[in-house]
Amino acid sequence: MLTKADVVSRILGGRSWRPVTRSAEAYAPSNIALSKYWGKRNAELNLPLTSSVSLSLGAMGSSVSIQPRDDGRGDRVTLNGAALASDSAFSRRLFGFIDLFRGRGGGTLDVQAVNTIPTAAGFASSASGFAAVITAIDRLMGWGLTPCELSVLARLGSGSAARSVFTGLVEWHAGTDPDGMDSFAEPLEDQWPELRMGLLVVSDVQKKIGSREGMGHTLATSPLFGAWPATAEQDLAGIKDAVRARDFDRLGRTVEGNALAMHATMIAARPPLLYWEPGTIAMLRRVWDAREGGLSLYATMDAGPNVKILMLAGEQQHVTATFPEIMIADPTVCP
Ligand code: PMV
Repeated sequence: MLTKADVVSRILGGRSWRPVTRSAEAYAPSNIALSKYWGKRNAELNLPLTSSVSLSLGAMGSSVSIQPRDDGRGDRVTLNGAALASDSAFSRRLFGFIDLFRGRGGGTLDVQAVNTIPTAAGFASSASGFAAVITAIDRLMGWGLTPCELSVLARLGSGSAARSVFTGLVEWHAGTDPDGMDSFAEPLEDQWPELRMGLLVVSDVQKKIGSREGMGHTLATSPLFGAWPATAEQDLAGIKDAVRARDFDRLGRTVEGNALAMHATMIAARPPLLYWEPGTIAMLRRVWDAREGGLSLYATMDAGPNVKILMLAGEQQHVTATFPEIMIADPTVCP
């Protein structure tokens, strides 16, 4: 079976780990899937069973700054200004990813990571984190990788990171190649700059079951999972059509239905996987009540209890009046 290291060496070819500059920076936005990635065809390489499409979160994402250390000491990382222990989960995941590229002789690094998406509120920052890290490494080494290659490499960190290399509406192609070279993201041809994504915090408790474990368990045990790939494919096509036609209600209905269908596969898993808290249902009801009251907004959810709201820029003020706690991302803003 192919390993991540095999994929990295295919992409890097003869390029070596030799910094060409003293410091490199990169920013990547987080993203929320409109049609979800749920289920892998290859767990080692994070290859998905289906394609997915997402909206980037503008100024909510990850900034990374990397410098080679020349004092012969070990790797160092700070997250939002605080130094992390080398055996912390964050450090291990970060340097485990960097080691895919660094090889044995590579020197140690100083990494400063800043997340502008509230991680404590349970919003995933791994997608933007891995996308920013691989982009900064590419700059530090002067490799000149293409956006498509960066997307493939970011995917090795976490699947949804493949989409965070780009902004706006982004499609991640499932691909069919066993090595996943055709499983990368790219911006949709049709963009819709007025789309906005709002984040509503239901719970900031760290989830017990991550998305990797959650999707593996659902695929292996849920009697409803069989219907998921066809649903995902149909929804993706519907979303692209709705974007092309500028039909927000069709877009929103498909986005909301897709998220609920994904959660239905999890709830039917054995034992069940329910990411929702009582507050999630209360929040969904508030969204549906607001819609009945005339607001044009739709909900989506990921592997956690929080609710995200898709809306158009013109509706932002009304949505904020109804949900004063909402944080709204403008995908067109790039810090
Ligand atoms: O990329 P991961 O392993 O964090 O998985 C993301 C899974 C979902 O957020 C539930 C769906 C998606 O497409 O982002």
